[in-house]
Amino acid sequence: MRSSDLFTQGIITMPRPFFFTNFVSTLDGKVAVTTDPKAYWPIGSALDHARMMELRRSADILIHGKGTAHAHRTVEHLDEKLAYAIVTHDPSDALVPFVQRASGPRVIIVTTDRAVVSEALASRVEVMRCGERDVDLERCAMLFEQRGFHRALVEGGPRLVHGFFERDLIDEVFLTWAPKIFGGECHDTRTMVEGPLFPPNKIRSFHLISAEPKGDEIFLHYARETHSYGAVSSEAIT
Ligand SMILES: NC(=O)c1ccc[n+]([C@@H]2O[C@H](COP(=O)([O-])OP(=O)(O)OC[C@H]3O[C@@H](n4cnc5c(N)ncnc54)[C@H](OP(=O)(O)O)[C@@H]3O)[C@@H](O)[C@H]2O)c1
Repeated sequence: MRSSDLFTQGIITMPRPFFFTNFVSTLDGKVAVTTDPKAYWPIGSALDHARMMELRRSADILIHGKGTAHAHRTVEHLDEKLAYAIVTHDPSDALVPFVQRASGPRVIIVTTDRAVVSEALASRVEVMRCGERDVDLERCAMLFEQRGFHRALVEGGPRLVHGFFERDLIDEVFLTWAPKIFGGECHDTRTMVEGPLFPPNKIRSFHLISAEPKGDEIFLHYARETHSYGAVSSEAIT
């Protein structure tokens, strides 16, 4: 199967990228452990890892929140063709080890208009500013589209992807159920989406595209229920 066959959509005509996300979860709904996360990682099997790599190959850009960028040092494992963006309020020196690519385009730091970018970081990255207090994800989407990033894989983590779901920007969800139970109380672990509860009229709904058992895992693929794509308003482009 070609990577593009994973998608239900064809050519993207909307004024923002096609956003998709990919998570692996335990049976009890945990995608990360907050204390000693490495001891609980990886959650999925080699097959899940292969799925992740396939999805990355189908993307023009990979987007991480700073928490995920820090947790995985993804920058060391990127295909040279894949652009990589890290979203943060705080583009400090501490990010330097997480932005040094052996090859490929400079990492894009997506931050606010007012954020102070350290000199050491600024010399190594491209900085994209959008938003006053927080990164305005709709505006960021427009800027990505203008840059030619038509397929954007938002791998999270849970706090970043909450913002994308809140703005109804996620078009498809890939989710692997791994046959594990972590237990824990809410402060010990994270679920796939972490942030303020959506009001009942803002619950995001998806329909099932496929459910594929492989070994002891199930690979799920969902597409958004509405196909309006939440087109970004023209006021967002300034
Ligand atoms: N199981 C899975 O499939 C999976 C997938 C991805 C990640 N994970 C796990 O998730 C954990 C990390 O998740 P997380 O929720 O703690 O972190 P995260 O979502 O990766 O990053 C959160 C950070 O991103 C920045 N951010 C998010 N939205 C922003 C906005 N609108 N404007 C400005 N900055 C924004 C903030 O950084 P600043 O604090 O710098 O402002 C925020 O603290 C890791 O343990 C990782 O392993 C699991």
